[in-house]
Amino acid sequence: MPYAFQIKWLDEVDSTNNEIYRQIDSLDNLSVLSAWDQFAGRGQRGNKWSALPGENLTFSILLRPGMDVVPEVQVLDQFRVSEISTLAVKDLLSAHGIDSKVKWPNDIYVGNKKICGMLIENSLRGKEVSSSIIGIGINVNQTVFDPSLVNPTSMKKLSGESFPTEDLLEEFCSLFGNRIPLLSEYATLKEEYLSDLYRKDEIHPYRNLRTGEIFRGRIIDVDGTGLLVVDTLDGRVDKFSFKEIGYII
Ligand code: BTN
Repeated sequence: MPYAFQIKWLDEVDSTNNEIYRQIDSLDNLSVLSAWDQFAGRGQRGNKWSALPGENLTFSILLRPGMDVVPEVQVLDQFRVSEISTLAVKDLLSAHGIDSKVKWPNDIYVGNKKICGMLIENSLRGKEVSSSIIGIGINVNQTVFDPSLVNPTSMKKLSGESFPTEDLLEEFCSLFGNRIPLLSEYATLKEEYLSDLYRKDEIHPYRNLRTGEIFRGRIIDVDGTGLLVVDTLDGRVDKFSFKEIGYII
């Protein structure tokens, strides 16, 4: 069943996640706010997300699990929201000939370069996720980036083509809708999420942010709660939350 997204474009806003949060009581399930100019975009770990006005996609979706045939999501299963969102971005890129991987937890990479980041903010009611603000930044037509960014890329840099961002957002919403049923089909969701996970089963260096130590390890799994499962090559397997491990790229 196609889901009915309500897309609204805003001329300028600090952050589309903030704007959804401010309007949350009046917005319908599956509302999408997208900014031409997001001037104070927020990233993970308190970082900024910068995107040149008009050249990229910076948008947030309000998802209310358990409403309008969106499956319920238990608090313990909230990582599933990240999983469907990353798969939908991969679907979009793939539809335009760009082969990407999910860099756990929810970045999208092409080779060793980042093309998309997400900031997902959930509200919980008892044991359930009552709403999820899924903020997504996709580098689309921007080709010159702030030198302080480590490894950015964009759809245009990779393909040489420019993309109309409004059409791309409509396409994304349709692909995201196709992934929503997977919220209640965990085996398939996990298989698909793991199938193209950046660095899975390969040996690479990481920083253990609990101890500061650099170690070589192999990502072998992501568990149901979203922890990264790493073989630390010393006869042990360790699980890390997002705050506990850094990739060395
Ligand atoms: C990251 O990689 O650090 C996450 C970046 C998330 C950026 C998106 S852009 C739309 C939404 N609004 C925000 O303020 N952040 C997210």
